[in-house]
Amino acid sequence: MSSVPAAPGLWPGAGRLSQRAFSGNPGSRQGPGMDWEDDERPRPGRRAGPPGERRTDSPDGRVPGRGAAVMSLIDSRRAVAGLLEGARAGTAISFARHLQIHGPLLLPGDAGFEPRRILGDLAASGLTGRGGAAFPSARKIAALQGAAAHVTLVVNAMEGEPASIKDQVLCTSTPHLVLDGAAVAAGLTGADRIVVAVAGDRPGQAQALLGALAQRPARVPWEVLALPGRYVSGEESALARAVGGHEALPRFRPDKSLPLRSARRRRVLVHNAETLAHLALVARHGAEWFRSHGTTDAPGTTLVTVSGAVARPGVFEVDYGIRLIELLTRAGAEPRVQAALLGGYGGAWLAGRDFGVACTPVDLRRVGATLGPGIVVALAEDACGLAETARIARFMAGESAGQCGPCVFGLPAIAADLDQLAAGRGGHGALQRLQGHLDIVEGRGACRHPDGVVRLVRSALEVFAEHLALHAAGRPCPHGTRPSLFGPPPLAIRR
Ligand SMILES: Cc1cc2nc3c(=O)[nH]c(=O)nc-3n(C[C@H](O)[C@H](O)[C@H](O)COP(=O)(O)O)c2cc1C
Ligand code: SF4
Repeated sequence: MSSVPAAPGLWPGAGRLSQRAFSGNPGSRQGPGMDWEDDERPRPGRRAGPPGERRTDSPDGRVPGRGAAVMSLIDSRRAVAGLLEGARAGTAISFARHLQIHGPLLLPGDAGFEPRRILGDLAASGLTGRGGAAFPSARKIAALQGAAAHVTLVVNAMEGEPASIKDQVLCTSTPHLVLDGAAVAAGLTGADRIVVAVAGDRPGQAQALLGALAQRPARVPWEVLALPGRYVSGEESALARAVGGHEALPRFRPDKSLPLRSARRRRVLVHNAETLAHLALVARHGAEWFRSHGTTDAPGTTLVTVSGAVARPGVFEVDYGIRLIELLTRAGAEPRVQAALLGGYGGAWLAGRDFGVACTPVDLRRVGATLGPGIVVALAEDACGLAETARIARFMAGESAGQCGPCVFGLPAIAADLDQLAAGRGGHGALQRLQGHLDIVEGRGACRHPDGVVRLVRSALEVFAEHLALHAAGRPCPHGTRPSLFGPPPLAIRR
């Protein structure tokens, strides 16, 4: 992989970290420096991971300090505790407290654990993956049932999207919910190995997970695997490679419906951390409860990281189907937000006129957008959307895994075209070149990393069309040269 250029306003690039696994049986792990909310600190054990540069647990100084009044998400409509119930940023809920909040859960190996009932509930719940692709969880799990091969379950807590912080919030504040879901999913698939994949430059996350593992019973061996905190490391085929002992690089898979495999033909199931947290609640409370939130087509709640031109950036748990405008209002959006980036750096821009859209995969698709892993970034009225897109494209070009020509050469070319346009140089020739590069790159990578960039840039050309015409005519707006308004979202939980 190439090193990441430090684009203004974007995260500086992480150093290359060697793969490092924290394994062993529960009881031998600790997360030094992690806050626990009571005296259930894990016993001293191994160090939890190499510090990195790209992310910290307090990214920008706006993070509420220890004990800050991060809201309890108790909601009068909600008889059952939601994902972030009782969570406080930076403080992990202990196992005992977790059981108080969510109630007991039968795990694989316990008398009365009913895989068939749980899988039925999961299918009826309509839970879809929260890692970006929104694929039905029950179908992924059912495809592995009865598999002759050994199965590794991977908890995808990589969160490579710089504008997302929800998996970090979950893993550091309510890790047992994620681990419950992983244990149940392992029981449903017969997995005999569970790997929690985290970015090595977020040591607090590894610490919280290791500490939580030390507090709970385990019948299947667990590992916390720290991988380089790169954008593509969290792609599922990269994780399948990584758990097989190889570098976390995406693999070309012509038929993505075929099961993932790692070394020695083991099958691999990858689920996002939030998906597994929902699964833990479905296993407890059933499908009907899950469907009491959200819409018929998009049931349940979802975590959304909201940042940018808002007064209250952070992670919100919302019902699917919430209007985007309502979500932005809850986050304290500035009155004249001109557009929003939905779905993150591999997502799409949405113009202000479309803010009435309901946040469901189907409704968002109609306006050319997606929530992706639950990301909304508000663009202030006086910001330059083209300049922001150019910065993102430059960052994404630096995140290429360096394996496929169209991605390696195409993404920097796209970023260069955008740089020129944003600066008011290159005129209509630059716009034509950009269109050509987008066409060449689309659909040509081993993974969908370049497709995400193409989608984002195409949406920018549409949403900022008027602006673009001025830039192409050599009259760029005065805001293009000022530092990016995008920044890392704070580790805050909002209601
Ligand atoms: C370039 C790229 C990067 C990705 N990074 C992540 C990530 O950091 N975390 C994540 O959960 N999913 C990521 N995904 C999606 C995963 O490949 C996969 O779909 C997901 O983990 C499956 O879990 P789910 O079914 O629970 O959503 C990425 C996909 C692509 C194409
Ligand atoms: S498309 Fe890009 S990121 Fe994906 S595998 Fe190829 S080079 Fe790597």
